[in-house]
Amino acid sequence: MIDPKEPRLQPAGTGGVIPEEVAEATHIPHPESLPEYRWVYLWRWPLRVTHWVSAITITVLIVTGFYIGAPYFTTWGEASSHYLMGWARFLHFAAAGLIVAAAILRVYWLFAGNKWARWSSLLPVQARDWRNLWRTVKYYLLVRQESMPHYLGHHPLQQLSYTLIYLIVIVQMVTGFTMYGLSNPGGFFHTATAWVAPLFGGIQTVRFTHHALTWLLITFIPLHVYLAFRADVMDREGEMSSIFSGGRFVRADVKFEDE
Ligand code: HEM
Repeated sequence: MIDPKEPRLQPAGTGGVIPEEVAEATHIPHPESLPEYRWVYLWRWPLRVTHWVSAITITVLIVTGFYIGAPYFTTWGEASSHYLMGWARFLHFAAAGLIVAAAILRVYWLFAGNKWARWSSLLPVQARDWRNLWRTVKYYLLVRQESMPHYLGHHPLQQLSYTLIYLIVIVQMVTGFTMYGLSNPGGFFHTATAWVAPLFGGIQTVRFTHHALTWLLITFIPLHVYLAFRADVMDREGEMSSIFSGGRFVRADVKFEDE
């Protein structure tokens, strides 16, 4: 139970008691009317590290990748005098190495992590999640607000979209290392990715796929950030802070599908 005398729950300067008229005028809920909350530790450090390393490296890969594809600073004079393309490529490949390291950690965590981070919480493999998918869609289409199923981890639409993002990043890695291998024929990357260009119907299609999928990632980022802020504001259950601290405060009286 929430203790109404608990000073941290009171606005400063009220001496622990909110006069009724003040509460009414300022719409401050009386502590006794607040629901009870509990803290759940969801995202342990490997998942948070993977998330932030991916966020930073994907941003670097997008900015430097577009520069590699079509250099946009053309007023700097001869390439040999500033080495800008060299830096863009170096950063692109350094970020590529880092995102591969993050991916290895994530794959390990798919099997070693808690139930909210495991492969079964990412792929919608359970009948329950397929049933709830439609309810989630109705909620986001503003058709039926109360139909939203409660999940501590990813709801079915998140499961599907994050799986898709992981697949896109994997294809980016495969196509990226295929192009990277071209600079050293007969070398490790060239040999390891020899099957890719024939599969795609030529190296130009490999490059086109690498470029086109970048746009899909660009579409995902603002949606992802918007929906995270939106959930934070609408649900008031600490969605945003969970990816920093690892945990969320959730209402004690709500039953969660994935608990
Ligand atoms: C989320 C991940 C990634 C994104 C968003 C991304 C984005 C891009 C873009 C937009 C281009 C320019 C394509 C064009 O129009 O020609 C590019 C080029 C390239 N990317 Fe990536 N990339 C990613 C991951 C990788 C990875 C993992 C590698 C592996 C080494 C890689 C290696 C390359 C190479 C070799 C090129 C061509 C460089 C050149 O021609 O000098 N990329 N990337």
